[in-house]
Amino acid sequence: MQPASPSRTALRVAMRRAAHQIYDAKPLVLDDPIAVPILGEDYLPEVHRTATKLQKPFSVSLRAFLVARSRYAEDKLAQAVANSVTQYVLLGAGLDTFAHRNPHAQLRVFEVDHPATQQWKRELLETSGIPAPSTLTYAPTDFEHHSLAEQLEIAGFNPAVPSFFAWLGVIPYLTLAAFRTTLGFIAAQPTGTGLVFDYGQPRSALPFFEQLAHDSLASRVQQAGEPFQLFFTPPEVAAELTAFHSTEDIGSTEINARYFCNRSDSLKVLGTAGRLLCAWC
Ligand SMILES: C[S@@+](CC[C@H](N)C(=O)[O-])C[C@H]1O[C@@H](n2cnc3c(N)ncnc32)[C@H](O)[C@@H]1O
Repeated sequence: MQPASPSRTALRVAMRRAAHQIYDAKPLVLDDPIAVPILGEDYLPEVHRTATKLQKPFSVSLRAFLVARSRYAEDKLAQAVANSVTQYVLLGAGLDTFAHRNPHAQLRVFEVDHPATQQWKRELLETSGIPAPSTLTYAPTDFEHHSLAEQLEIAGFNPAVPSFFAWLGVIPYLTLAAFRTTLGFIAAQPTGTGLVFDYGQPRSALPFFEQLAHDSLASRVQQAGEPFQLFFTPPEVAAELTAFHSTEDIGSTEINARYFCNRSDSLKVLGTAGRLLCAWC
């Protein structure tokens, strides 16, 4: 990431969540009443202006993956809350709106993000008149340069009880060292701690047409100043997760079966590049 600039990819993801609310058939996979207002007058017009482009198959598939990963995290979080987890940590939160829709009365939410992105989000929320809930605490952190443990401690996070972590759309942008340091911190949390993240498979593991889609996306994020750095195959990611148990790692077939069956529109995930993973300490 550019150290002084807010994440452009966070904005693109938020625009796709907003597009889901506006253009996709009901029932929505991610019902998010804050997704549209958070964009405000600065960014919402682009979602309307690009309506035709948003119906192209690659765009529909990417949107499906993005809303499915948030829904997957929130489904697994609900499972953790049912097992008495009271802390939710969003790593690289971007413009995620869960904290403003939190249905769990006892759940504290910690939003961890690059300081420049977090500051920009807070300004957007204020401009859009979206109040900060009392259960939300911000913990500005650069995974490459700051200690997550220290930043969470400053924010009042309690490391003595199990928590739930979501790390959505962040791993491809990290170095392997930053990924391992953060994963190590989560692995050291108490039994009952859960983690959801998504990851991408390396270009070489993809069929030819998916390699072209990969190249197009890689070129766009590079232009946004946030180049892809880190990919895993499923066996490679499993090897990183030996400290966890009950790991679930799902691809498009399982994602579509879980979230996109019997829809009246064509919203579903195509290809094999993106995967969702849940693991428990
Ligand atoms: C593609 S966005 C995803 C945002 C959000 N999780 C979502 O799903 O909408 C990537 C996020 O990772 C964050 N990020 C990337 N590199 C980071 C780093 N080194 N430290 C902290 N956050 C980082 C960005 O600030 C941004 O919020």
